[in-house]
Order: sequence, then structure tokens, then C-alpha cells
Amino acid sequence: MKSKEIRQKYLEFFQNQNHVIVDSASLIPENDSSSLFISSGMQPLIPYLLGETHPAGTRLVDSQKSFRSGDIEEVGDNRHNTFFEMLGNWSLGDYFKKEQLPWFFEFLTKTVGLDPNRIYVTVYAGNEKIGVERDTESVDLWKQIFKTVNIDAKDYDNAEAEGMRDGRIFYFGDKKNWWSRSGEPANMPVGEIGGPDSEVFYDLGADLRRHENSQWKDEPCHVNCDCGRFIEIGNSVFIQFIKTKDGFEPLKQKNVDFGGGLERITMVSQGKDNVFETDLFANILAKISELSGKHYRDNMRAFEVIADHLKAACFLMGDDKGVTPSNVDQGYIVRRLIRRAVRYGLDLNINNIGWTKDIAEIVVNDYADIYSELNRNKNFIISEMRKEEEKFQKTLAKGMKEFSISDFRFANEKIISGVDAFRLYQSYGFPIEMTEELAIEKGLKIDRQGFDEELKKHQSLSRTASAGKFKGGLADSSEQTTKLHTTAHLLLAALRQVLGEHVSQKGSNITAERLRFDFCHSAKMTEDELTQVENIVNEIIAQNYPVVCEEMALTEAKAKGATGIFESKYEEQVKAYKIAKDNKIFSYEICGGPHVTNTGILGKFKITKEESSSAGIRRIKAVLE
Ligand code: SER
Repeated sequence: MKSKEIRQKYLEFFQNQNHVIVDSASLIPENDSSSLFISSGMQPLIPYLLGETHPAGTRLVDSQKSFRSGDIEEVGDNRHNTFFEMLGNWSLGDYFKKEQLPWFFEFLTKTVGLDPNRIYVTVYAGNEKIGVERDTESVDLWKQIFKTVNIDAKDYDNAEAEGMRDGRIFYFGDKKNWWSRSGEPANMPVGEIGGPDSEVFYDLGADLRRHENSQWKDEPCHVNCDCGRFIEIGNSVFIQFIKTKDGFEPLKQKNVDFGGGLERITMVSQGKDNVFETDLFANILAKISELSGKHYRDNMRAFEVIADHLKAACFLMGDDKGVTPSNVDQGYIVRRLIRRAVRYGLDLNINNIGWTKDIAEIVVNDYADIYSELNRNKNFIISEMRKEEEKFQKTLAKGMKEFSISDFRFANEKIISGVDAFRLYQSYGFPIEMTEELAIEKGLKIDRQGFDEELKKHQSLSRTASAGKFKGGLADSSEQTTKLHTTAHLLLAALRQVLGEHVSQKGSNITAERLRFDFCHSAKMTEDELTQVENIVNEIIAQNYPVVCEEMALTEAKAKGATGIFESKYEEQVKAYKIAKDNKIFSYEICGGPHVTNTGILGKFKITKEESSSAGIRRIKAVLE
């Protein structure tokens, strides 16, 4: 089955179980300062998992664009991509285990046609310390499910030490069968949600002798062994708990969060053992081959890094809240992806400048019918890709030369000094992670602390590595962030009054202390304009405007003039927040909430900074005093 068909059939399968198909959310989190990107399907749905009503109901199905920067270095191991599509079905306090587990099994075996004999599952072993039971309920369900295909499914503990034996169902503990955005229960910050999960694995075949040739050859092979024999193709998370100061408390409702990587399901369905060999990458790899005159088989790693990174960069730039390559936050990750791809291009001797945009064209063509934003933002993707590549091409060759003949003091210590690494960064645009990788290839290390000190000295940026960013727990829903969220709506409406209707939101980021708001506008704002905006917002606050939430079809919301970075192929129900009084609508935005109910409680609005964020995008920082 082609990937397109699998995606479509998955959505339809759950639609037939009374789920509503919803569009993928943006890759850039909304009002959530805890992470740079959406890295799982549950992230945009957190308010609803916590109990807020979703306008489309309690059963949803989607294919969520996801990006995991932590996997940049993993690309090339046959199963990891930085950008991937997460097929997801959701019970928001509706169905639970006895529906979920048979449904997914049916989808895999009947719809996709996988061999049930190659399917293995895991369940949560329980943890008395946190008061969560062993998941025997799922085990009983799995036994019944396997029975329908004449498999006598035995369950075992301790697979890490004792291997598979003749088992089908395996118990694992906190590290493997508990899911939250921050992993096992002990690592979860207060306010974070999660729960036990049940994972489904596919056996790529013992005859591949992966295990015997792997570093784990002296240990027993089992589903969670990293030798590559088994691949996880889906995970049903039973999101039921919230971490508190004292431990875990049950949530208001029991949820199902199922996620399965489209790339991996496609891989096993197409009988492959590498995600890059599926139709999801075929056109991109063919183009790289054409550009380089080389074969994928002979240069797998370089081909895979280029294909993965440029596809991811296209999706990040082609998002409606598109990211521009830069030195900070999301922009830095996009820069890193493009530059790392260009460096691998050099390894393949691809030397016609501007080649990355040829790949971008392919990505847009391959995906535009599913993710229409790629078409809307095609010109932006192509021009930014080209600019970023050209900038780096100018210095790459020289920088590589400097790297290889440099005076790095590796003779004795095998360490590249912070000053040298900084020069590569400053003069040649080498992302530090790339220099680190080049160093490792030569058996060298980098004085990372020294580099960071140099960087600080030059005070050129305040880059945030997304890997380390998630620590704060939930995009906190404290009263102060809710107030600032409503203030963001007031700010947008005021900007549109003062600067014009061309102003649209390009992203926002809210913490309890401040609001950061990006919008398109080509010129620096004048003092006078800033004062006008502040005055308008403060006036609406002073006049106690009610904030009202309405639910309606997306088409209706648009017809009524509600704004929002929101496009959908589906006839979705949405929430629209109206800030209006005496028949005067001040702000009307499609938005998931939450918001305060009256502007009167917001306090005094003050803009603390107005600056450029990237080409054509301005950034305002503001507070409530
Ligand atoms: N949240 C789970 C995951 O990301 C399942 O969707 O794996």
C-alpha cells in the first residue's frame, strides 16, 4: 500500500468508529513556551485531555506533523526521522482500552494487511510507589485479540534478562511503558500529564541476523532491544494521571492518546526495513541521485541526512507560522538542518549552488495535497532555502579547509579550543553542533564550555537548544498566562487598527511574566505607533469588554470575519473568541482558548520592546502591570 493510502485508510477507519477527522495543528506551539516544536500528537490537545471540551467532540483522528530535534543525530539508523507524521486517534474521556486495542490491531492486520504472527506487544508492569497498578486489563484484552487470529499469546516479565521465550506480550516498567512528554514518572514535572501505555512492535525478521551482528549479541534479544530486529509501530497511551507535588492524581477523565508513525507503518507494510526505502522518500532520493550522479546504496547516510533534513526544513518553513532560518530558537534549528544537509551535499560533490531548492520543490509537490500550507507558503520556502544555502555555500568550503588544516591543538590534547570553534562559527557560519560532528569524525573533542564563553563574550545570540528547553511542564495554564493570552488578542486587533489589515500573527510565546508576539509588518514601528497601540489596548481593558467563546463550523467563523491562522480541509467545528461590547466587535479570533471572561481584570498593558524577528516579521514583547 502507498503511504497516501495508509494515511487515508487510517483516518477513514476511525471515522467509521465515529471519530471526527481534524487537521494537523501547526508545528509551532501556540502560547506554549515549554517547547520549540510540536513533537507528539498530544501536545496541541493538552487542554482537551485535561477536560476542556473540544469543539469536534470526544473522538478525534488526525495525522499530526511532528518534529523531534533530539533525533537529528539518529537519522541514518533505519527508523528515525526528525520530521514525521504521527497518525493519532483520541478518546477525550470517551472510549478506553477495550475499544482501542482491538481497533488498532484490526487496522494493522485487516486494513494494512500485516501478518499477525509478526506482531508483539508490551504493557505496563505497574509501580506500587506511585500507586499505579500492573496493567493486567490490557494483557487480558491482548490475549483475546490474538486468539481471534489463532495465536495463543503468552505473557512474560523480565524480557530484558530472559528474552522472548515463546511470549507475545511483555511487561515493562516505567522506562518503557509509561508515556509523558518528559518520559518516565520520576522525570515528570508537576503539572505534566501521562500514563501507562501499550506498544505494538513488528518483527522485521530474525533471519536478518541483526542481533548476532550487533553490540548486544551476548544479551538476549527482545522487543525493546536496539539491535533493529523489532520496530515499534504504534503506542496507545492511557493518559489518566497528572503529576502533583505529592505524587500522582487521576485526571478528571480517562483518555486514549494513540500515536503511530506513518513512516514506520508504511515501511513495514511495504516490506522494507528502512523508512527511507518507502515511497515517502523515493522522489527526494531520486533527485539527490540526479544532482550528485551517485547512488543511494553507496552513500546511504549522506542521502538520508539530506533527505530528512531538507524535508523537515520545508515543513518548518512552510508552516503557516513559518520559521525563518536564524540564530535563535526555531530559526536556529532550521539553520542547522539546512547547513548540515549542505555539508553532506559537499561530501557527495553536489556543487551547483541553489540545489537545495530543487529538493524543496519535490517535498512541496509530494505533500501539498495533504498539507496545503506548503503550497500557500511555497515561495517563502524556496526563497528562504535558497538564501540560507547561498549564505552558507560562500563560506563552507573555506571553513572546511580551515577545519582540516587548522592549527587546532589536537596534537596533544585532541581538543578543539573554544576560540577555534567560535571562529568557525563566527567567520564561516558553522553551527557548533556541526563542528562537533566534524570533530568526532576525526576523533577530536570540542571545548564546549570554552565555546559558550566566547559566545557570551560576543553576546551575539541567546540561542536555545530545543532539546534542553522542555522542563517547565505543561504550557502552564496559570491565571497570569491566561490573562496574557487574552491580551495577545487585544494586541493583534490594536496592531491591525494602527498599522493596517495586512498585519497577521506569525507566532506567540507566553510565560507567566510576559507576552511575546510576532506579526508581519515590513517597517520598524514608530514611537507614536507604539503609544497608539498601547492606548487602544488599555482603553479596551478600561471599558470592561466581555470575552465570549462561540462554537461553530470553520466556514461559518470565517464568513463572520473571524481571523486565525487556521486552514482546514475538513468541515471542522472551531471555537471563536469574541471581544465585543455595544455591538462593537473589537477582536474576533479562531482560537482554542483559554481566556479570561472580561478584559477589565487584565491590568495595565505595556510594550517593553519592539524589534525585528526576521525578514518582514516584527516582534513585540509586552507585560501586564
Ligand atoms: N503520545 C504518544 C507518543 O508520542 C502516543 O501518541 O508516542
